[in-house]
Amino acid sequence: MWWRRGVVYEVYPRSFQDTDGDGVGDLRGVAGRIQYLARLGVDAIWLTPFYASPMRDFGYDISDHCAVDPSFGTLEDFDALVAAAHAAGLRVVLDFVPNHTSDRHPWFRESRASRESAKRDWYIWRDGNPPNNWIAVFGGSAWQWDEATGQSHYHAYLPEQPDLNWRNPEVRAAMLAVLGFWKARGVDGFRVDAMRQVLKDPQLRDNPAAESWSGAPDRYDSLIPRFTTDLDEVQEVVAAIRAEIGDAHLFMAEVTAPIERLVRYYGTAGEGAHLPFNFHLLWVDWRPEAIADLVERYEAALPDGAWPNWVLGNHDQPRVASRVGAGQARAAAMLLLTLRGTPTLYYGDELGLVDVDVPPSRVVDPDGRDPERSPMPWTGSPGRGFCADGVEPWLPFGDPALNVAEQESDPRSMLALHRRLLALRRSSADLLEGAYETIAAGGGVLVYRRGAGTAVSLNLTSQPAVAPVSGSVVMTTGLDGREGEVIEGSLLLRPGEGAITAAG
Ligand code: NOJ
Repeated sequence: MWWRRGVVYEVYPRSFQDTDGDGVGDLRGVAGRIQYLARLGVDAIWLTPFYASPMRDFGYDISDHCAVDPSFGTLEDFDALVAAAHAAGLRVVLDFVPNHTSDRHPWFRESRASRESAKRDWYIWRDGNPPNNWIAVFGGSAWQWDEATGQSHYHAYLPEQPDLNWRNPEVRAAMLAVLGFWKARGVDGFRVDAMRQVLKDPQLRDNPAAESWSGAPDRYDSLIPRFTTDLDEVQEVVAAIRAEIGDAHLFMAEVTAPIERLVRYYGTAGEGAHLPFNFHLLWVDWRPEAIADLVERYEAALPDGAWPNWVLGNHDQPRVASRVGAGQARAAAMLLLTLRGTPTLYYGDELGLVDVDVPPSRVVDPDGRDPERSPMPWTGSPGRGFCADGVEPWLPFGDPALNVAEQESDPRSMLALHRRLLALRRSSADLLEGAYETIAAGGGVLVYRRGAGTAVSLNLTSQPAVAPVSGSVVMTTGLDGREGEVIEGSLLLRPGEGAITAAG
C-alpha cells in the first residue's frame, strides 16, 4: 500500500508540456518531465483523461476508452511514459470515467440509432421532453430530446456526455473491462470520476427545490440532487469497481459530499475506495478554528482502517494561491503536506501559480475552469518552455516571472519549499504515520501535533502571531534560517509563516 506514504501529483496533460508544436501538452511532454517530478519528491502522478475525445469537456467526454487521443500522442507514447515513470520510481494513476461517454462513442451512436437498438438500454432514455425536472451540473435540463426516436437521454454534465446505464449488466462488464485493459498496460491505480452519480432514481422522481437558492432557476444548485447523486445503491457500483481494481492498485474516487456521506465510500471489509477524495480544504473558511474543526470531524468520522487524504487544488477549482491569497500560499502548502493522510498536489501549485485571466475570446471550458488550467510555465520565455516560442498555447499564460527556472535558482522559492516539505515528510515517521492532535486553534494560529515528536504551527493571518509550542525549529515556510531556533512556550510567527518544530 505505497499510497499511504505517497504524495499524488495531478498532471493535466493538456497543460504540462507540448512537444509537437500544437500548443497542447502531450504524453511525450509528460514523459520528458519525469525527472522534474522525481526531484520534486512526489510518489505518483495522476493523469487526467488523454483518451480519444471530441474534447467538449477536455477529455471527460470519451469516444474510445482504450485509445490515446491523437492530440496527446499514441499508445506507444503512453507505454513509454509509464516506463519512464516507473524507472524513476513514480507510480502512474489514470482517470476512469464510468458515469458517461461522449455522444460520439460508438456505444452511444448505436444506442441513439433506434429504440430497438441492442444498446438502447446502455444509456438512459425516457419518454417526455423533459421527463422530469433534473438539472445538469453545467446548467440547464439534464435531458436532451432526440427528435428521430422521440425520447430524451439523461446527461449529468453536457448534452454531449450521455450518462451510461450502470443498471445494465452489459454496461458494467464493458466498463470494468476498461480497467483491465489499462491494468494490463502496467498502471498503478485509478482516479474514478463522478463516483456519486453513477446511479439515478429508477422512478425518476423530481429533485426537490433548494430553499436557500435565489439565483437563476436552471442552475444545478437550484435543486437538491437527492435523486441523481449519492444514492445508497451507488455503493454496489463502488464495490464492483473495487473488486476489479483489487488491492495491488490504488482506487481514488471523486466524491463531493459532506463528511458523513463521504466516508461511506471507504466501504466496509475492503469493498470501497482506498481514498475517496476529501475536498473539504477547498471550501473551508481560512481560519484556524474552522480548519481544526474540519480536521477533527474528518478524523473522527473515518471508519476503522480507513486512510485519510487531503486535496488543496485540482483542475475544477480556483487555484489555492488565488483562493487564500499569495500571503497564505506557503502556510497552505505546509498544511497540505503535514496533515495525516495522502495529499494530492495540483500541478503548478508547487510554484504558487494563481488563476490566469482568460479574455472572453479565449474562453474554452463550458464551466469557467480555464483560469486554473493555464499551461505549466517552465521558463520565462514567450512559450514558457511549455511550447515553442511563437506557438499559441491552448490557454494564455500568467505572469512570466512565475516559472520553474526562476524558482530553481532561488533557494527560498515556493518550489524549494515544496521540495523541502516533501523530503522532510518522506523522512519523518511522525509526519507519515503519527496521529493528529490539535494543540491550539485561535488568535490567528493553528497548531497541531503529529505523532509524539512533531508540531506544526501556522499563522493564518497577515499580522504577526504567537504559537504556543516548545522545542526546536526544524523548518519554516520562509526557508530563511530559523532552523535550530529553540522555542520555550511561544513561537513568534511572521504573517503567513508556518513552522515545523521537534519536541525539545
Ligand atoms: C469531474 C472532473 O474533474 C471534471 O473536470 C469533469 O468536468 C466532470 N467530472 C465530468 O466528467
